[in-house]
Amino acid sequence: MFSSAGRALLLLLLLLLDCAADRSTERNYEYTKYHPMPEISAWMQQMVEENPGLVSSEVYGTTYERRDIMFLKIGVDQDGVQKKAIWMDCGIHAREWIAPAFCQWFVKEMLLRYKTDKKVGEMLNNLDFYVTPVLNVDGYMYTWINESTRLWRKSRSSPPESCSCPGVDLNRNFYANWGMIGVSRNCCDNTYCGAKALSEPEARAVTEFVGNRSGEILCYLTIHSAGQLLLMPYGHPQIWAPNYDELMRVGQAAVRAMGSVHGMEYRVGTSPDLLYPNSGSSRDWARLIGIPFSYTFELRDKGQFGHKLPEDQIQPACEEAFEGARVIITYVHDKAFHNRTDIGAAGMAAALWTSMLASCLTTMLLV
Ligand SMILES: *[C@@H]1O[C@H](CO)[C@@H](O)[C@H](O)[C@H]1NC(C)=O
Ligand SMILES: *[C@@H]1O[C@H](CO)[C@@H](O)[C@H](O)[C@H]1NC(C)=O
Ligand SMILES: *[C@@H]1O[C@H](CO)[C@@H](O)[C@H](O)[C@H]1NC(C)=O
Ligand SMILES: [Zn+2]
Repeated sequence: MFSSAGRALLLLLLLLLDCAADRSTERNYEYTKYHPMPEISAWMQQMVEENPGLVSSEVYGTTYERRDIMFLKIGVDQDGVQKKAIWMDCGIHAREWIAPAFCQWFVKEMLLRYKTDKKVGEMLNNLDFYVTPVLNVDGYMYTWINESTRLWRKSRSSPPESCSCPGVDLNRNFYANWGMIGVSRNCCDNTYCGAKALSEPEARAVTEFVGNRSGEILCYLTIHSAGQLLLMPYGHPQIWAPNYDELMRVGQAAVRAMGSVHGMEYRVGTSPDLLYPNSGSSRDWARLIGIPFSYTFELRDKGQFGHKLPEDQIQPACEEAFEGARVIITYVHDKAFHNRTDIGAAGMAAALWTSMLASCLTTMLLV
């Protein structure tokens, strides 16, 4: 049979092949391009087909224009037992194209690391990840029509009788101090909050699904651009989250990790402290119903390109955002499953895993 050196060589070869096989999925789909909705839907289907027992999809709502709202559920099935979960949605604001790109990147990375990275394997055993690549499907499709629609932000619902502009800012439509501050009552404005809380089917879909599982969902991440911020509850300047200090501590570790990847500056805090007060956001709603960790990611950039972030920045933007998300979900996981509340482990690992390649190479060489 083989000598031990021979066996080691063979093992290395097999691991190399395994890594190459893992990378093949990635080659089929261009994660460094923006994709129109039909391509994203086909990609979701592909993820389900290629990962039986690990990835499934579910329609959990219907948009104003009668399109499906779907997530991918990623996690090792534990005989149908209801697992604790992490929520992530992207593309609630139509024009923020880097957000859907990140949701897809996040799914790709988790699946890639599932086999090679013990921590990701553990997290996918213990947790389910519900990832909605595009929440505002109607709005997103509208931004793809032509250059004049590219910067549409809202949903596409019909205006109230007294007004002439379509669409509601979905991130002002949630049942969280709805309509109180940082919103517009004029339907032609970008921050129009709707005729009442949850007037929009997209906001209702999230509210129903997440609300039904508020005991299981430990963490709510909603992805936006731009500004390079990590926003925590609450958007109302007079309300403080009961775990403000912990949210801040974890958030600081996340922005440090994001900064360490490509040297970009990110800041953490509440909306009123960093931006402007606002009410009716999904992040605030999630914290109000008792989900302990709730954050809004505002990805690149700081205004140079804004929502028209060039495609050559998709990869670096997603790499750094992944590290930020990884710090948060690692903390949330370790707190729930190991009763660990130090962020040392999450923070330290971040330094090791800054490059894309590292996910494959370090694991191989350490075996
Ligand atoms: C872009 O599409 C919108 C919506 O269909 C349409 O109203 C507008 O005329 C189009 N503009 C151009 C320049 O094609
Ligand atoms: C949420 O729960 C209600 C009442 O139990 C149920 O009717 C509804 O279908 C659930 N919605 C989702 C999206 O699971
Ligand atoms: C978790 O850790 C804290 C602090 O070390 C301790 O007070 C608490 O009893 C622990 N809880 C459980 C369920 O082990
Ligand atoms: Zn946004």
